Amino acid sequence: MKTGLIKKVLVLAMSLLLVVAAAGCGGGEKKDAAASKISVKFSHVVAETTPKGQAALKFKEVLEKSGQFEVKVFPSSQLYGDKEELEALKANNVQLIAPSVTKLVGFVPAFQLVDMPFLFKSDQAAYNFYDGPKGQELMNTLKPQGMLGLGWWPNGSKHFTNSKKPLKTPDDFKGLKFRTQSGGVLDEQFKALGAGSQTMAFGEVYQALNNKTVDGQENTYNNIDTQKYAEVQKYMTVSSHGRLDYVVLTNTKFWDSMTPDQQKLFSDAMKEASAYERTLADELNAKSLETLKNSGKLEFYTLTDADRAAFEKAMQPVYDKYTDVIGKDYIEAARNSK
Ligand code: LMR
Repeated sequence: MKTGLIKKVLVLAMSLLLVVAAAGCGGGEKKDAAASKISVKFSHVVAETTPKGQAALKFKEVLEKSGQFEVKVFPSSQLYGDKEELEALKANNVQLIAPSVTKLVGFVPAFQLVDMPFLFKSDQAAYNFYDGPKGQELMNTLKPQGMLGLGWWPNGSKHFTNSKKPLKTPDDFKGLKFRTQSGGVLDEQFKALGAGSQTMAFGEVYQALNNKTVDGQENTYNNIDTQKYAEVQKYMTVSSHGRLDYVVLTNTKFWDSMTPDQQKLFSDAMKEASAYERTLADELNAKSLETLKNSGKLEFYTLTDADRAAFEKAMQPVYDKYTDVIGKDYIEAARNSK
């Protein structure tokens, strides 16, 4: 009886050991599979609910379906701010970023094209420029810097907000100070309007508006909405005077480490995410405009055709100074795009 019981206990213990060992093995395999996946970090500075934030998540979803990649998205400057993300990309500490192209001015001044006042006729004209030969050429100019453009992610037109007064004419800007993303074109734009400017990382803007380091800023409806600038600004001028668009970048070191098949999976996922981003940009900017209007916190003014003509005239010095810096060919291609 006793020996039988001992036997039973032994058999049970052995079975248990086998089960535990098998589970351990399975876990190990899973671990190995995870370890062998290509790890991709995607860092950006905006909220998750923006066109860029959502498209980054779409890219993750599509690419991870292949089973070969693990993509981690870090929104809202969690990992890196504006300047740091560019350095981190070059050092391969992050494999994807999607900066507003203005922030690439230090590498290729022609990216300031988007800041040239009233240049593109419409959103569609901007999309067609990006998809056309000049847009593709511009995207590829970063290769010598070890950065590879994978797609254009347009956000939309910029509009002015400020805390001091309604801005209806160029004269109204005199003496005010605005935050800029970077680059000489934006400084020149505000100078032409008699205003001052200060370059500042995106993550610092709300605080700077709140403590009045700057009086105003320019951005898309969606960024203004998702950053809650209406809490610290009083006036909004619907001006569509320039654009804010992104280029998705990886680094050549990471890219070259992938097989052609993996590069194809990556490019295909990027194509899908890029198409998604464009529909979202339209949709989310329109929604944000409604949200801002309904908030009751901002007084709105929309430029008339005559106002716009006055602004174009006042901002002519920007073209005088920057057409050659950016390149006449780029400016013409953008202006003629339909
Ligand atoms: C800004 O700095 O205002 C924007 O470039 C932020 C962004 O990425 O949309």
